Amino acid sequence: MSRRGRFITLEGGEGVGKSTNLAWVADHLSARGLEVVRTREPGGTPRAEAIRSLLLDPADEEPLDVDAELLLVFAARAQHLARVVRPALERGAWVVCDRFTDATFAYQGGGRGIAAARIAELEAFVQQGLQPDLTLLLDMPMAAAQRRLEGRLDRDGGARDRFERERGAFFEAVRRAYLARAAEAPRRIAVVDADRPLAQVQAELARRLDACLERWG
Ligand SMILES: Nc1ncnc2c1ncn2[C@@H]1O[C@H](COP(=O)(O)OP(=O)(O)OP(=O)(O)O)[C@@H](O)[C@H]1O
Ligand SMILES: [Mg+2]
Repeated sequence: MSRRGRFITLEGGEGVGKSTNLAWVADHLSARGLEVVRTREPGGTPRAEAIRSLLLDPADEEPLDVDAELLLVFAARAQHLARVVRPALERGAWVVCDRFTDATFAYQGGGRGIAAARIAELEAFVQQGLQPDLTLLLDMPMAAAQRRLEGRLDRDGGARDRFERERGAFFEAVRRAYLARAAEAPRRIAVVDADRPLAQVQAELARRLDACLERWG
């Protein structure tokens, strides 16, 4: 019987370095001989990625209702949990995921203004008690993260998605909601100052991960 794997999520606002560090975290764990599945939300399966496209599409001719947005996020999550995350954890693999439900509390809660209690109901319904074992919350001031994002958009020639088009106040609210969530779950959520050179951020991520590896045995 293999032991259940661990579920690690990376969180934070736009441009804080989640994707950059996700690859690094996955490599760090693989180097310790663990089977690692890297994935992301919303998405992670073909159908869930199709829901992601609906969520990110700016399509201004039909604004997306905030409750519809919330339900789409959880629909994608149910699919991702059923098809990818739970099977991986059950066979003993570790799952490293770019965003999860803390992002819903931050974006749909803090950003869109949906009550946390309503999000928590859907969280209980869809997750049935499943929570990440560790969440690495990359935190930095919005303006600095925006500059990084602009650097990336310039290099990609990429267009802004429906969230990236939001205003500063939206991202400030997202950041506050993330930090409030971290304050409520300090054992699970590690707040990492992301406004530093990558090597320093990754040194702290390594310390946090290795402490968990030790604790979990
Ligand atoms: N510590 C850092 N210092 C400087 N630049 C960084 C750092 N971390 C990431 N970057 C750069 O910032 C940009 C955004 O990083 P990345 O795409 O990983 O962020 P993200 O959190 O995944 O963004 P998004 O929310 O848009 O998915 C990239 O160009 C990346 O190379
Ligand atoms: Mg990313």
